[in-house]
Amino acid sequence: MKQKRKSPGVIFMIPVVSILIVLTAFTISRLTPQEDLKSKYAYKDFESAKKCRSCHPGLYEQWSQAMMSQAYTHHWDEIEYFDLAVAHSNAKPEIKNVVDGCNGCHTPLAFMGGKEFPPPRPEAKSMANESVSCEVCHLTQAAQTDPPFNFSYLVKPGITKYALRTPTVESPAHKIVTNDFFRTTEFCGNCHNEKNPFGVWVKSTQLEWKEGPYYKENIRCQDCHMPKGGPFLNALMTKPYDDSRLHLFHGAHDPGKVRGTIELRIQPDIREAEPGESIVFTVVLFNQKTGHKFPTGSVEDRIAWLQVEATDAKGKVYHLNVDKKGFEGEEYTISGDYLAYQDMGLPLGLPDFKGIQRDGIPAGNRIFRMPYFDPEGRMTIMQWNTAKQGVDYRIGPREAKVEKLTFRIPFDAAPGEMKVRAVLNYQLLVKPVADFLKVPADESEIKVVNEHSTTVQILP
Ligand code: HEC
Ligand code: HEC
Ligand code: HEC
Ligand code: HEC
Ligand code: HEC
Repeated sequence: MKQKRKSPGVIFMIPVVSILIVLTAFTISRLTPQEDLKSKYAYKDFESAKKCRSCHPGLYEQWSQAMMSQAYTHHWDEIEYFDLAVAHSNAKPEIKNVVDGCNGCHTPLAFMGGKEFPPPRPEAKSMANESVSCEVCHLTQAAQTDPPFNFSYLVKPGITKYALRTPTVESPAHKIVTNDFFRTTEFCGNCHNEKNPFGVWVKSTQLEWKEGPYYKENIRCQDCHMPKGGPFLNALMTKPYDDSRLHLFHGAHDPGKVRGTIELRIQPDIREAEPGESIVFTVVLFNQKTGHKFPTGSVEDRIAWLQVEATDAKGKVYHLNVDKKGFEGEEYTISGDYLAYQDMGLPLGLPDFKGIQRDGIPAGNRIFRMPYFDPEGRMTIMQWNTAKQGVDYRIGPREAKVEKLTFRIPFDAAPGEMKVRAVLNYQLLVKPVADFLKVPADESEIKVVNEHSTTVQILP
């Protein structure tokens, strides 16, 4: 059979057309303006979560114990927003829009319904205190960008609420339209991914999930943070469901959720040694529980660190230093005596601010973190002032990290059994920063993620 040949004209057209298609797609995705929801509506266009509570008491009580119900009112949020971010934009007016944007995720009703920024302080008890409320989520129709980030939700106030379930009874208070968007992780990614003015992904929980094993298995945010359970009455007038999506949203502020997230085991290379000899301990840290990296989210604030201590037969305690691996930027992953966070000086009105301790934990410990750097290359916790990120030494979903600690048995170590204990500790906010900014102690308390011990014999 004779093959039909394309005319030279057609052959010439193919690349031109495909370039045009690519260009158009590019222009559309780049130029379609994200609908700017800032000040587009009024507070009165939205309903308060208290109103939803009258018929949805069970879900309301769950949500009210979750951090999203306090995203605007929580002490550390108030301190960072008002004392650092707003103060920074007062000193540097060109970042005002970025700082107003904090509200796009932390108090969307104030962002969409307020006319002045900053919104009233939490003590004024305005609608801003609604934080990430029922309305915010259940008025959401879609994401306006792909991937979703920076409050890219499409929200229209009104009596139509969106969700997944087809209700058994009509609600007297609102219409219900089912919307498959609630099934997706993009729904959460509207706020759980954030790109700052330097183009840095300062939050990427949904993107991390998408790169990891749980995406392939279709185990989504909702499956771990809104487990299905019952019998549960999701609304007063209806029947209990066996598979109601519980609004727990428990995360890093729930010690129980954090506990056991990483499993760890410690083993020696030899079981007996004399003083002066070295034992190499291997610690394996396995991320068994999170669908994203650990830590995720507010990575600039968070540290997890491995502390290993040996106790000899007489009870004397020795601290073991982690062995260096030699990768670039490793100095940020081993605790030590460094000053950092100097960029807080500008918003705080301290011109020659020398900085404060970077880690605030015993030296020589491995830290699982990703450092954020300001435009001058100094470590920062001000994510909006982050020009660059350093080495990503967090523990990915189902990843196991292996650390070694070479311990030369001290000459004064007592003969007999020596117990060696490895602990993974976690802190939401590095302690020197918390203390310096007078953030209440619960934000910097040490949470034990996991621990394991082994023994060796010290020979006389
Ligand atoms: C007067 C009572 C009442 C009030 C007030 C009320 N709801 Fe409902 N809502 C219901 C009932 C009844 C259902 C149907 C429950 C079912 O059978 O699943 C429902 C269902 C829903 C659903 C759909 C889930 C489903 O099961 O289909 C959403 C979402 C929802 N309500 C959100 C809200 C929000 C947000 C508010 C506050 C702005 C609110 N509701 C206030 C009674 C109420
Ligand atoms: C952070 C977003 C978010 C917030 C805040 C939120 N919801 Fe939901 N809600 C969801 C998602 C997502 C689903 C659907 C999950 C699914 O079925 O997979 C849902 C499901 C529901 C359902 C159906 C539950 C069922 O039986 O399966 C009701 C009713 C509801 N929400 C009401 C509320 C009320 C009332 C509030 C405030 C107290 C609230 N929601 C706050 C995201 C949210
Ligand atoms: C409108 C923005 C928005 C959406 C949508 C949203 N979140 Fe959040 N979420 C936040 C903010 C802001 C915080 C930080 C709360 C605070 O200030 O501590 C947060 C915190 C959390 C936390 C941390 C709790 C803790 O203990 O530290 C979890 C877990 C969480 N969200 C899960 C989800 C899930 C799952 C979804 C999707 C079903 C979702 N969020 C959708 C804005 C949002
Ligand atoms: C396989 C279960 C699982 C999945 C899937 C999952 N998470 Fe988590 N998530 C956890 C666990 C466990 C923690 C507690 C440990 C921690 O803080 O990381 C957590 C913590 C969090 C935190 C608090 C982190 C911090 O340091 O403040 C946020 C926010 C969060 N998850 C959001 C999400 C979002 C958004 C998704 C979907 C893109 C998601 N999670 C998917 C298990 C999961
Ligand atoms: C794109 C959405 C988004 C924007 C914009 C945003 N945040 Fe957040 N913020 C979040 C989410 C989501 C979390 C929770 C992450 C986690 O649990 O680790 C969070 C966490 C925080 C926390 C830590 C809460 C805690 O208790 O640990 C503070 C403080 C905070 N944000 C302040 C700000 C400030 C100030 C700005 C503006 C400069 C801002 N945020 C902009 C989404 C956003």
